[in-house]
Amino acid sequence: MSEKIVLTGIKPTGMPHIGNYIGALKPLIDRSKAHKTFMFIADLHSLNTMHNASEIKQHTYEIAALMISLGLDLNNTALFRQSDIDEIYQLNTLLMNVTPKGLMNRAHSYKAAMDKNTAAGLDIDAGINMGLYTYPILMTADILLYNTDIVPVGTDQKQHVEFARDIAGYFNTMYGQTFKLPEPVIGSDTGLIPGLDGRKMSKSYDNIIPLMAPEKELKKKIMRIITDSKTPEEPKDPDTSTIYQLYKFFATESESAEFVKMFRDGGMGYGTAKTILFEKVNSVLANQRTEYERLLANKSEIDAILADGAMRARAVAKQTLERVKKAMLG
Ligand code: ADP
Ligand code: TRP
Repeated sequence: MSEKIVLTGIKPTGMPHIGNYIGALKPLIDRSKAHKTFMFIADLHSLNTMHNASEIKQHTYEIAALMISLGLDLNNTALFRQSDIDEIYQLNTLLMNVTPKGLMNRAHSYKAAMDKNTAAGLDIDAGINMGLYTYPILMTADILLYNTDIVPVGTDQKQHVEFARDIAGYFNTMYGQTFKLPEPVIGSDTGLIPGLDGRKMSKSYDNIIPLMAPEKELKKKIMRIITDSKTPEEPKDPDTSTIYQLYKFFATESESAEFVKMFRDGGMGYGTAKTILFEKVNSVLANQRTEYERLLANKSEIDAILADGAMRARAVAKQTLERVKKAMLG
C-alpha cells in the first residue's frame, strides 16, 4: 500500500455522467486498490445551487451506489457524506482567516457567475450567494482535513485544488508546518470529456450521457451525439469525433485500433459508429448497472456503508482539527 492519500468529491446535483466517470471517478476507483482513499459526496457544496433536500438525498444515494457498484475498494476507502463530518464546518471557519479575499475574486466559478450577470445586464452579484463565493475554502477544508496528497479531478477543478495548495502554504507560513501540499491529478486525455454537443460534458450544459441510464435511455442519448455531415464513405478523424473520444475509454486496445481504421479508411457511417459505442458502453456496464439498481432498492445497505465511511473519516478529521486549533488558538 502506497503512503500517498487520495481523495475526491462529487456534488449530488444530478445523475453522474460519463465525463465524471472518466475524469474523476475511475481514476479514484483505480487508485483505491493501492492507496488509502477518501471519497465523499459533496452535499454541502451542492447547497449553493440546490434547495431541495429530498433531491440532494436521492442523488447522494445514487452516487454512493454508483461508486460501490463500480468497484471502489471499500477496505481501503472511506466512502461518506461530506455533511456527516462535523469537523468540516469547523475547519472551513478557521481557514476563512488565512484565505485572502482576492484569491476568491479570481475563482473561475465566481467569475463565470459574474460574467453571466454582466451579459444579462444584471447587477454583477445578482443571485450569487456566499456559498458560491467561498466554495473554494470549503473545498480546501475537504482536501486538507484528511491529509490528502493526490486529488483526481477533471480540468475544471484544477484551479480549486491549486487554491487548496496555496491556502495550505499560507497557513504553514503563518503557523508553522501543519498541512501537506495536495496535488491535482488530471489525466492527459481524461480531463475534458466531450458531451452530446461536443462541449465539455456537464450537468450544467444538459449534454450528458448518464453513466447508469437504463439501456433504452443510454441508446437514445448516444444516438443524439452531434456529428458533422460526412457520408458513410468519407474518411473521418477519430481525434475530433466525440463518438471515438468516448469509445476509446470503454474498448480494448485492439477494438480501438479497429475503430480508428474504419473511421480513417471511410466506409463506416456515424449511425453505425454510435451503435458500436452504445453496445460497448452497455456491455461494459451491464453487471455494474444490475448491482447499482439492487443497491438503490436496498438503501439501508448504502446507509451502513456511508456510516462506516463517516466513522473512519472522522477519526482522521478529529486529529487534523486538533492540530489546527492548537496552532491557531493554543
Ligand atoms: P458537472 O460539470 O457535470 O456539474 P461536477 O462538477 O459534479 O460535474 O464534476 C465532478 C467531477 O467530475 C469533477 O472532478 C470534475 O472535474 C469531473 N468532470 C466533470 N465533467 C467532466 C468532463 N466533461 N470531463 C472530465 N472530467 C469531468
Ligand atoms: N468542487 C468539486 C466539483 O464541483 C466537488 C468537490 C468538493 C471536490 N470538494 C472536493 C473535488 C474536494 C475534489 C476534492 O466537482
